This record gives sequence, C-alpha cells and structure tokens, in this order.
Amino acid sequence: MCGIVGAISNRDVTPILVDGLKRLEYRGYDSAGLAVVDAQQSLDLKRSVGRVANLEKICSDVTGTIGVAHTRWATHGRPAQRNAHPHTSSSQVAVVHNGIIENHQELRASQKAAGFVFSSETDTEVIVHQIDWHMQQGAGLFKAVQKTVGELEGAYGLGVVSKQQPDLLVAARSGSPLLIGLGEGENFIASDMSALIPVAQKYIVLEDGDLAKITSNSVEVFDSNGQAVEREIRTSTLSDDETELGGFAHFMKKEIHEQTRAITETLEGRLGANNVLELPFGENAREIFDNTKELKIVACGTSFYAASVARYWFEEFGIKCDVEIASEYRYRKHVVNPGTLFMTISQSGETLDTMAALEMAKTLGYSNTLCVCNVPESSLVRASDLTIFTHAGREIGVASTKAFTTQLVTLLLIAVCLRRRMQGDGRRIDDMESEIVRELRTLPQQIDNVIELEEQIIAMSKHFGNKEHALFLGRGAHFPIAMEGALKLKEISYIHAEAYAAGELKHGPLALIDEDMPVVAVAPNDELLEKLKSNLEEVRARGGKLFVFADEESGLQSDDETMVLNVAPVHNHIAPILYVVPLQLLAYHVALIKGTDIDKPRNLAKSVTVE
Ligand code: F6R
Repeated sequence: MCGIVGAISNRDVTPILVDGLKRLEYRGYDSAGLAVVDAQQSLDLKRSVGRVANLEKICSDVTGTIGVAHTRWATHGRPAQRNAHPHTSSSQVAVVHNGIIENHQELRASQKAAGFVFSSETDTEVIVHQIDWHMQQGAGLFKAVQKTVGELEGAYGLGVVSKQQPDLLVAARSGSPLLIGLGEGENFIASDMSALIPVAQKYIVLEDGDLAKITSNSVEVFDSNGQAVEREIRTSTLSDDETELGGFAHFMKKEIHEQTRAITETLEGRLGANNVLELPFGENAREIFDNTKELKIVACGTSFYAASVARYWFEEFGIKCDVEIASEYRYRKHVVNPGTLFMTISQSGETLDTMAALEMAKTLGYSNTLCVCNVPESSLVRASDLTIFTHAGREIGVASTKAFTTQLVTLLLIAVCLRRRMQGDGRRIDDMESEIVRELRTLPQQIDNVIELEEQIIAMSKHFGNKEHALFLGRGAHFPIAMEGALKLKEISYIHAEAYAAGELKHGPLALIDEDMPVVAVAPNDELLEKLKSNLEEVRARGGKLFVFADEESGLQSDDETMVLNVAPVHNHIAPILYVVPLQLLAYHVALIKGTDIDKPRNLAKSVTVE
C-alpha cells in the first residue's frame, strides 16, 4: 500500500528518496513520485505511473537537500501521473499522504470557491491546497499544517515541504503509520523503517495526533494539543539481508523455503522439556491467560484463515472461540461475555480494518487484548495489552507464506496454554501437551520433507496453466487450509479459485464439476478421512480431475483421474501447518507458468492501511 519517504540533509536527498521508495516497493503500488526543493528554491516535482525505476529515469537532473517521495496505491482516482503524489499547490507546497480523507468533498467545494484549481481526482489534493491557503493567510509552514490537520476527517500520515521554508520538513500522523528516522546531520520520515535501512537505525514512531518539525539537526514532536512531547527513541533491527533474494527467483519462493527456519525461531525459547513455557510470552501473559474464559479473534485475509484453523484447536481444548473478519466486525453490534479475550492476528500489524476493530473492541468490555503479530514496531502491537510475536522474519512477497505458518505455530502454543487452564489450575502438564510439544519439535524437519516434494508439485502445476477456475476441498481444520490454498492460487496466478468444506459439495458446487475444473484436496489421515474420500468419489463420478495431497497411509492412489501426492504421516494437531506448504508451492509454480508478477501481484498491497 502507499509508502512515504522524506529527507532533510546537507547532501542531495534525491538518491535517498529513490532508494527509500525502492525499499517500499514490496508494499504494492501503481505510481510513484517525488518533490525536492532545489538550490534555486523552486519545487522540482517528478511523477510517473508504474515502477519506481520509471521515476528514477526522470530524476537524473533533480537535486536538493529536502524532499518528500511516495508510492501510491490508488483509492480515489485511477492510477495516473496526475493522481500520483506528491501533490502541490501554487508550486509552493508539496504533500505526500497515506490514508483517506473522508471530508475531501466538502473541502474541495470550499477550496474551489476560493479559487484553487484541482489537477487530480485524489482526496489528498485538498490537504495541500488547505496548507497553501493557511500560508497565504500568513501562517508559517508548521502552523499551516497544524491548522489543516485540525480540519481533516479521516486517516493520514503526511510529509510536507514548502519552498518558502526549505529548512523544514513537517510530518503529521493520525491513523496511518509514520516514523522519523534519526541520522547524523540529517533526518528522515518514512511509513516503515525498511525504507531507511541504509541511512538510519534510530527512529521515533509518531503517535496519533502527533505533528513534527524536522530540520537536518533537530526533531521536535507535538501532540494533538500542540504540547511538545518526548517520544521514545527506538533502534531498528532491520538489515539488508532480509530484503535480498539470496539466489531465489522470487521472495515468495524464498519465504516458502524459509519456513523451516522461521518456525524454529517461533518455537525458540518457548518450549520446555515437555511443555509450553508462558513466561517468554511476556510478564503479563500468565495473568491475561488466567482471565480468559473464551476468545474472540478478528483478522483479515490469510491471518483470518490462521484464526479459522486455530478455532478448531481452541474448541477441541474446551475454549469457546469465535472468529470474524475485521472489516465485518467493526460495523456491527456485539454481545461480549465476561472473561472474553479479544485477539487480533496480523502479519504487518498495520492493517487498518484490524486496527479499527481493536480500537472498537477496547470500548466493549473485553477482559484483555492480545495481538499475534510479526512486526515489533507496528500499530497493533502498541495498541494491545499483550503481543505474542510470530518471529517469521521480514516477509516481502505480497502473498503471505511464512507469516501464516508461524501464526499457526504461535496460535497452537497459545491454545496449549489456555488448555491447561481448562484442564485444572493452569500448571499441570499432561500427556497431550507433551505429545504436542514433541510434534512441534519435529515440525521444521517435516516442513523440509514437504518442500522436497517440489519436483512432484511442479509436475502437478502443469495441469493448471490453462485453467480458469479451480476448487479446493478440505474438512475440519483443513477447510481453512483449503481456503488459504485457494487464496494463494487466485492472488498470484489470477486463476479463479474457491474453497469448500468437502461436505458442502453436494449442496451446490458439484454442479461446476467437469474436466476443466481441477479439484485440489487436502487429505491428512484424520478422523474425517473416510468422509473426505466419499466426497472425492462424488467428484470422480462426475468426471472431475482430482489433485490430492494425502497422507501416505490414507490409501488414496493415483490413476487417470486422480493425481495423489503423498505426505509423510503427521500428528493431527500440526497437520494443518504442514499441509498448507504444498498448496503454497502449487500456487507458486502455477503462477510461474502463467508468467505473473509473483511477488507483487496486480491490484494488491502488502500492508493494507486503507479501509
Ligand atoms: C494474502 C495476504 C493478505 C493478508 C491480509 C491481512 O496472502 O497476505 O490476505 O493476510 O491483508 O494482512 P495482515 O496479516 O498484515 O493484517
């Protein structure tokens, strides 16, 4: 989703801005631009549609010591040069903006009446005209931004420069993440720290309502009441290693292969000899778990599917668990039972719908809030009573892979901790816990074994290259795994894919079955295997082609109509974590055949910070 970079220095900032935008490319965008105040104190504005590389080509003659830059993901107005940021007003002020301004139509009408001419269809353009208008009334740049944000409704992360004050960069945040990178004799702003890896390790996260005056030597932060405030200076642990392909053709493939290491790191320090340790989750984890009688989990996309798998674990362990999509949760009324823990799951920690759901939940009487997240500096982490990190490492491919499997591992650990309380006083370790811990220890190796099936998955993927639709089937905890498999395929190969609980086939989707509709199924050797086999027979009887990932002891065999790929036997609880991996690889190899942009699929963004 949209990305912001800004810089003020004694050296030329254009290369810093362009490099920062390249580092934000993983977020997804459709156009890019920058504005720099040059030595003649004029605003040099460059914008282009498509890749940052296109922008770079037209910036070779741009130099200056202060500037702002942006990658845009269209919300108001189609991807076009005129809609790309920065937006300017009277060639005086330039603004980059993440978020959405909800009262842009009212502001636009009054600005048009005041004589401002609009050159884009964006909501952002009203911000820059409003700042310009306040400056025309005599306000300095900072005061003009302060007055303007007081008139905005909606969400914003803003970077603002003006040729009238070329020694001042102004930043403002409400609802959209923004941070300030602290350099030596230079300072920066960015929507996430990865943009600033080569130039800053120390940084400040702006809080909602904050405004900042940034020069090359100083940073002053003011809260929404205009009071000067100190915000904690943090140190980033990001490095370039995580943002390099390391010999893989795509980040998605690298991240699928990294799951072995990522899961090992998720488990590190959290397992005792035969039990799950609680202290590593945080000092208040034990108390929060003690307070929990039931669970409400809210998330989006792949994270929602992780929650949906975990619901099977929680309820098997006797913990009532309700799971909901964040964008739905936030717009309905709720009945909250005492002792309900509100849990969010998010790779990025910045998903706006999930964040808004959390803010709403805090007013509704939940016992506590817990976030399962991958990004330490993120908004959800800061807003939650407790965060349990997934430790997946940075995920760059838009299609989530290692973030999903590490979410599942983390959720299983939490389920085991809560199960102990359902069994007794929360301290006693029983055989089932020891068994799950043993199985979790074997999981990284088992993931490796599945990845070794890649050649067979490549052979399977060849049957999908010319298909327009696919069905995915699973039962029990593998139904959400089928949903995740279908999401992966549609995201990166653009093949329409839908998932069904296999028992639902006969209630409608069976009508779709013919030889052009490949049907993918996950068939672990669990208590639902025989039921699933009957469902698969329903498909075969109608001429459907089956592609089944099956436990080697399932008894399922390949023949003319069915391609079976055998997976080594696995314990029931961890089976969903394992069975998603071949589905990720299948989607990847189909997308490779289709020649799509695998790491940055069309229309999608990595960090979804708009509604
Ligand atoms: C799909 C995918 C998305 C995200 C969703 C939520 O591969 O990655 O569906 O899962 O946008 O994002 P987070 O987990 O960052 O809240």
